[in-house]
Amino acid sequence: MRRLALAALVACVFVTLVGLVLARRACYFSQEPDASQSGRLRWVMPGSKKDRCACTSIRPGPVNMQAVRWSHPPFYTDTPIFTNDPEDIHDYFNCHDILECSEVRPLGMEDGRIRNASITVSSMWNDWANFGPTRARLNLETKSGSAAWCDAGSSDANSWIQVELGSNVIITGVITQGRGDYNYGNLDRWVTEFKVAFSDDGVDWTDVTNDGSRSPMKIGLLGTEDGRIPDASITASSFWDKNLNYAAHKFPGNSDKNTHVTTTFPKAFQARFLRILSTQWSIYCSMRFEVLGCRSHE
Ligand SMILES: *[C@@H]1O[C@H](CO)[C@@H](O)[C@H](O)[C@H]1NC(C)=O
Repeated sequence: MRRLALAALVACVFVTLVGLVLARRACYFSQEPDASQSGRLRWVMPGSKKDRCACTSIRPGPVNMQAVRWSHPPFYTDTPIFTNDPEDIHDYFNCHDILECSEVRPLGMEDGRIRNASITVSSMWNDWANFGPTRARLNLETKSGSAAWCDAGSSDANSWIQVELGSNVIITGVITQGRGDYNYGNLDRWVTEFKVAFSDDGVDWTDVTNDGSRSPMKIGLLGTEDGRIPDASITASSFWDKNLNYAAHKFPGNSDKNTHVTTTFPKAFQARFLRILSTQWSIYCSMRFEVLGCRSHE
């Protein structure tokens, strides 16, 4: 008994110490030659923005006589800061727009916290509720009708399903799944590729891009909007897909009926509505899914 208590105490002290070490993170601004101006040094901090924003103190680091090849684009500056104040560090690196969940959780498709009325679709097969939006809950099983939402088929070229999640939700990704009940071998169905958009009002939508950027480039003023400049006169070096929807990333979807495919978005975002737009599917557009993230105060 005593031994057990001692072991528990040691474990407890250990966990506390590890916690303290993890919570403190010293970072370093080192110096290296400025590639754009020979003979000049510049300050550099490696890592991603997320790494830098996790710093709790910043100290001067070594001087590298040769430019280092960083695996991730580092942060360069001529005006570094050295501080032990995490708030100053947050301000310096402009960290306030970084959204993170301390724990990513399902937001309620599977367990029903997302109400039936909060799930809507562009169309459903034959307009039967048996194929409707409430069938899209992850892991749903059924004895009648479909174990997935199924769109109207060829009459709906741009199918989507959306959920209203309420306020203060940070969304980090989705889990998608195919149609569970159908059992006709090669006639089984699922969505193989999809896009994602989010919105605060259900009217204006922002596409999820491959790098998490928020503002797709739009050209205006001189007539691209009202059509005075004809489509054929607008060209670009490259764009994202054949629908000229150059901002939205196409995420790979499912390849069977039941396996979960988890998609983590490049950057978490806060939104009231999430919409999944299917772009390719096997046989028919059929999907079950879960939304991943957290409430923003979590
Ligand atoms: C939600 O929809 C399902 C059908 O897909 C139904 O069985 C269930 O009763 C509905 N829940 C509520 C609260 O209406």
